[in-house]
Amino acid sequence: MIRTLLLTVLLLLTASQSFSSGEKIRRPKARDFGNVVINNYSEANKEFAVVFPHWIHRAKYSCRLCHVDIGFAMTAGGTGITEDDNNSGLFCGTCHNNDIAFGPVIDSKLHGQMNQCDRCHSQGRKVKFQNNFNEFRKKMPRERFGNGIDWMTAEDQGKMTLIDYLEGVSFPRKKMKRQADFELTGTVKQMPTIIFSHEKHAKWNGCETCHPEIFPVKKGSQPYSMQQIFSGQYCGVCHDKVAFPNIDCQRCHVESVN
Ligand code: HEC
Ligand code: HEC
Ligand code: HEC
Ligand code: HEC
Ligand code: HEC
Ligand code: HEC
Repeated sequence: MIRTLLLTVLLLLTASQSFSSGEKIRRPKARDFGNVVINNYSEANKEFAVVFPHWIHRAKYSCRLCHVDIGFAMTAGGTGITEDDNNSGLFCGTCHNNDIAFGPVIDSKLHGQMNQCDRCHSQGRKVKFQNNFNEFRKKMPRERFGNGIDWMTAEDQGKMTLIDYLEGVSFPRKKMKRQADFELTGTVKQMPTIIFSHEKHAKWNGCETCHPEIFPVKKGSQPYSMQQIFSGQYCGVCHDKVAFPNIDCQRCHVESVN
């Protein structure tokens, strides 16, 4: 019953979406899910555009560290990163400095000169990457959609330990006050209730990635709809782009109706 209802709504919604945008929705491959193409200046300067892979990075760092402490925007191209920024230790250069991760050029004293440009400037180019997605995924609990990885369970099982603090970049913070999980009841009566877990979200996202920009700090003060989520607002700021996609209806609409 719930399945049929979800499916019907899904069909209606995706139909209206593909009509309004005039193109077919293509689902990315598991290894490409969460990739962000950054191209404000690259092609304009005869470089290949940058592809930023979320999967490698989120396996090591919290979302909060990058999106709050380092200051990356949560929209593709929104930060306006330049090569100069990186070379002065900002943005990608916070880590890609031959210390935490590879720099633009391998340290000449240690390894001689070697170009590392194409590992970042990889859009539309054949590049041999050092990190292999399929190898990584083999060790992880599976999910159906997105990266095909159940990131939440992987973290719960200690398959990865998220770094949430970088010396010289992060401010020491007080321990976060635990927020209660709550139910979100859809405006349509028959919809299965959504249980929103503050605790699980805060582990990855802290508080500042959501409050106050995406959500007001008062439950129900600003109603929103599934259509808005599908179009990339509210939960859809992250879900579909980096967190598991919106076609996975039942991961959010979990509670059965009675
Ligand atoms: C760690 C990732 C990374 C590496 C390594 C890297 N870049 Fe970039 N680079 C970026 C990002 C991100 C941008 C911003 C891209 C954009 O908006 O088009 C950028 C921008 C640029 C631009 C655009 C103009 C400008 O001044 O911002 C040029 C040219 C460029 N890089 C050249 C290089 C060259 C040459 C190398 C190798 C010596 C290199 N990059 C290595 C991430 C990297
Ligand atoms: C290593 C740093 C890093 C980590 C960790 C990280 N991100 Fe990002 N994220 C970025 C960068 C860089 C961009 C692109 C910003 C730009 O283009 O200006 C981005 C972009 C995004 C976008 C916009 C994508 C789009 O297609 O418009 C979303 C949503 C996002 N991140 C969510 C998350 C979530 C959720 C997590 C944790 C699961 C996370 N990020 C972890 C660096 C990071
Ligand atoms: C918080 C630290 C951090 C930030 C910020 C960061 N990275 Fe990384 N990145 C890493 C680490 C650690 C690795 C994995 C180790 C390695 O391959 O050297 C990695 C790996 C990568 C890889 C995989 C390369 C391969 O051969 O497999 C790419 C591509 C990459 N980063 C691009 C970027 C770009 C582009 C940015 C900025 C938009 C960025 N990273 C920002 C830490 C970071
Ligand atoms: C993934 C996004 C997300 C993160 C991360 C997050 N919240 Fe929330 N928070 C929400 C949503 C969604 C609501 C409900 C808003 C609504 O109904 O419009 C909410 C509501 C609240 C409320 C109001 C509760 C009520 O009963 O009115 C408080 C207080 C709050 N959050 C505090 C926090 C704190 C503190 C943190 C960090 C520990 C945090 N939140 C992390 C999404 C988030
Ligand atoms: C990331 C979590 C998430 C996913 C995935 C998700 N939903 Fe929702 N859905 C919500 C939230 C949050 C609401 C709004 C609840 C409220 O009214 O406060 C909602 C509301 C709805 C409503 C009520 C009417 C409306 O338009 O607001 C319908 C119907 C619905 N969703 C259907 C679906 C279907 C079908 C799918 C799968 C294609 C889906 N949802 C996937 C979170 C999700
Ligand atoms: C700031 C980014 C962000 C926003 C906004 C966000 N989420 Fe999430 N959510 C995540 C990440 C990251 C995960 C971890 C799983 C993944 O990445 O696939 C997650 C996981 C979940 C899970 C899985 C919990 C589990 O136990 O498996 C549910 C359900 C969920 N989100 C619902 C919601 C709903 C409903 C909203 C809106 C009210 C929302 N999320 C808004 C980032 C976000």
